[in-house]
Amino acid sequence: MKSEKILPLKKVKKIIYIPYDKSITHRGLIFSVISKNKSVIINPLKALDTLSTLKILTKLDCKITEKNDYLEIIPPKKILSLVPLDCGNSGTTARLMIGMLSSLEGSFQLIGDDSLSKRPMKRIIEPILKNGGEIISDDNFLPIIIKGKKIKKIEYDLKIASAQVKSGLILCGLNCKEQSIIRGRIDSRDHTERILSAFNCDLQINSKNIIINPSRPKDIVLKIPGDFSSASFFITLGVLHKNAEIILKNIGLNPSRTGYLNILKKMGADIEINLKDDIEPYGDIKVRSSKLKNVNIPNEIIPNIIDEIPLLSLCGALSQGEFKINDISELRLKESDRIRSITENFKNIGLKVIEKNETLIIKGDQKIKGGIFNSFKDHRIAMLGGICGLLSEEGIEIKDSECVNISFPNFFDIIKQL
Ligand code: S3P
Repeated sequence: MKSEKILPLKKVKKIIYIPYDKSITHRGLIFSVISKNKSVIINPLKALDTLSTLKILTKLDCKITEKNDYLEIIPPKKILSLVPLDCGNSGTTARLMIGMLSSLEGSFQLIGDDSLSKRPMKRIIEPILKNGGEIISDDNFLPIIIKGKKIKKIEYDLKIASAQVKSGLILCGLNCKEQSIIRGRIDSRDHTERILSAFNCDLQINSKNIIINPSRPKDIVLKIPGDFSSASFFITLGVLHKNAEIILKNIGLNPSRTGYLNILKKMGADIEINLKDDIEPYGDIKVRSSKLKNVNIPNEIIPNIIDEIPLLSLCGALSQGEFKINDISELRLKESDRIRSITENFKNIGLKVIEKNETLIIKGDQKIKGGIFNSFKDHRIAMLGGICGLLSEEGIEIKDSECVNISFPNFFDIIKQL
C-alpha cells in the first residue's frame, strides 16, 4: 500500500503532456479483433486498464507487434475460446467484450478483479439474453461464461446512458444475421460510433437511434489523442489555483466528452482551445487562474461529464455560491462509490458537503485545509486527492495511491515536478 504526500503549490506555469486516451485505446484494440485485416493503433495508452484489454487480445490469438509509438494487430483467423479472459479493473473491457464475444462462435470465460466483480453487468447481459444470446452468470456479476453464437439481431431501448453498454451492443449487432437497432439513452460518449463508421462499418446514427447493419471494420489506422478526463485534473488545477497558467497539448476534444469545459466556461473560467478536426477531434487547451461562480448543472449533461463530476464538485466547493448536482446515481457504480468517496474525503480535508441520495450539495467559497485522502482504490479519486493537495493550506496525504496506474501512471511524478 503506497501513499503520497502532496504539499501546497505556490505557482504553476507549465506545458503538461497527458497520457493517451483510455476509452479510445480500449476501442482501437477491441475493434481490431473483428477487423478484416491488420490494424494500426498509434499512441495507445500504456496503463493497467488498457493492458488488461491487450492481454485479452493475445489470449484470443491476435498477433500484436509493438513498434515505437504504435501497435500493429493482426486479427486471429479463428478466435480462441475457453481461456479465462481477465478484464482486471476495467469496466470498458468487460462490457465491450461481453457484447462482442456474444455474437462470435465460441465459449468465453470473463473474469475481473474484486472491484469489477462487484460492478453491475446486468445492463449488458440482459439485452443480449433478451435478444437470444447465451450468458451464464451468478446474478449478473463476473465471472461469467459467454456461449457465443450468431444472434438474429439486437433490438433494445437503453434505459441508462452508458457508452460501455451502447458500445457492447453495437459490437454484438455488427455480427448479427440481420439489422439491429438501439434506441433510448444513446446520448453518451460516441467514440465507438465515430471510429467504427470511419472504418467501414455500416451504422446509421441519429439523435433517437442507432441502426447497425452486419459489417466488419477494416484498415483501422487510429491515432489516439491525449485523454480529456486525465487532462481535466490539470484544467481544474489551472482554473482554481491563484497563480496558474497551464497548457495541455493534443488533448481529445470529442464534444461528447468535453461538457466539463462548457460548464467551467459558464462558471467564468479562462480557457482557450484550438480545435483540430479528425475522426477524434483534438487540440491544445490553455487554462489560467479564474474567479468562478457556481451555475445550474442540467441533468442532460451528466453522461457527458460523468468522469469529471468529482473534479466539478471540487470546483463547486471553491467557487462563489452554492453548488448542486442532481441525478448522479451512476457515480455509485464506478471503480468506487464515487459519491461516498467524494463526501468522505471532502469532510476529511475540511470541506463541508451534503449528500442526499442522488444529489450533492456543497457550500461555495470554502478552503481546503488538508488531511488524509483515501483513494478507495479508485484512480480518479486518488488523482482528485493530488489536486486537492496542491490547492490546500497544509498538504494532503493520499492513501493507496498506486491505483493511478489504471489510467495515468506518471500522475504523481508530474505533480511533484510542478
Ligand atoms: C467509458 C464510459 C463511461 C466512463 C468510463 C469509460 C467508456 O462509463 O465512466 O470511465 O470508455 O465507454 P459508462 O458508459 O458506464 O457510463
